[in-house]
Amino acid sequence: MFEGKTILTGVKPTGTPHLGNYLGAIRPAIELGKKAVEQGGSHYMFIADYHAINAEKNPIVLKQKMKEVACVYLAFGLDPKKSVFYKQSDIPEIPEITTILYAYTPKGFMNKAHAYKAAVDKNREAGKPDDDGLNMGLYTYPTLMAADILTYDSDIVPVGKDQVQHVEIARDIAGAINAHYGKELLRLPEYHIEENVAVVPGIDGRKMSKSYGNVIPLLEDDKSIKKAIFSIKTDSRPMEEPKNPEEILVYEIYKSIATPEQLLEMGEGLRQGKLGYGHIKNMLLDAVIAEVSTAREKYDYYMSHYDEVESMLAEGAQKARPVAQRTLKRLKDAVFGR
Ligand code: ADP
Ligand code: TRP
Repeated sequence: MFEGKTILTGVKPTGTPHLGNYLGAIRPAIELGKKAVEQGGSHYMFIADYHAINAEKNPIVLKQKMKEVACVYLAFGLDPKKSVFYKQSDIPEIPEITTILYAYTPKGFMNKAHAYKAAVDKNREAGKPDDDGLNMGLYTYPTLMAADILTYDSDIVPVGKDQVQHVEIARDIAGAINAHYGKELLRLPEYHIEENVAVVPGIDGRKMSKSYGNVIPLLEDDKSIKKAIFSIKTDSRPMEEPKNPEEILVYEIYKSIATPEQLLEMGEGLRQGKLGYGHIKNMLLDAVIAEVSTAREKYDYYMSHYDEVESMLAEGAQKARPVAQRTLKRLKDAVFGR
């Protein structure tokens, strides 16, 4: 399905990822990129640091988050020789292209964009004026994201459900520009949602999320992972009592990481009253550690040799920029009648 296609993945530097981020976003993005390249397509993978400054104003924090996210992707197997891996802010053509796109972005699109709307709703709930504390970066977020996408003639943009609207806005802006100039100046992108990626529950049963403080950490030491897993909510039924695995949170989390055989083993053990909560927590712990142990070593290596990572990102920008320069020229030629 990706033959000759250009896939583009963007990620915000949001800090140390948890198991849910890994299974829901990091692993699928890396796998998709690999598949695309194997099938003769190309994969752009970038860190959206311009998007991040809307919310994070402390350069020290930002730098640390940047470092973490870059090292995480490399640790889990992103190959910068195959994927074009770069920082958004290393491509000065992106803000230039954004400026051109503004002229074709109906203001109403921004009013309807869900990140802005959610911020307004939050202000209303708190009894504050609609736009209290909101900056133009947040308001125009979707146009910058459209530039990220349209600059590289992306065919497919893998996203979570919350980002679909943004890809549709990018498509609409591109369509408006093409229609105005009567030619295909910009390629119309499509979004891609991985249907079988589950929402991983956290240790309290709600969606695992750093804002709920219910996460299983990914790259910390075994002790911290164990501590989180052993605090997963269970009840006081004895081991011998047969249980429906579907009602057990440890089993639900195990589903997103175990092989079918491993899952069957846990399910049967619970149904037959042969496995207790301590056993199944240890099984989950082993699976998580097996999944992350090599990556953790690589992560530690990259974090302490960050200059190597910076050169990889700089090389990525060198590959991305000529493409961005071509798109910018194409747009300027059309817009200014050159
Ligand atoms: P958090 O909820 O911890 O703040 P983010 O909103 O920063 O996480 O999400 C970053 C990426 O990780 C998104 O693509 C999101 O869909 C994915 N993700 C976050 N939590 C989960 C989860 N519990 N299960 C699956 N994917 C998740
Ligand atoms: N908005 C995306 C998020 O919050 C990150 C992002 C920025 C992005 N530009 C992009 C994603 C372009 C895909 C394509 O996760």
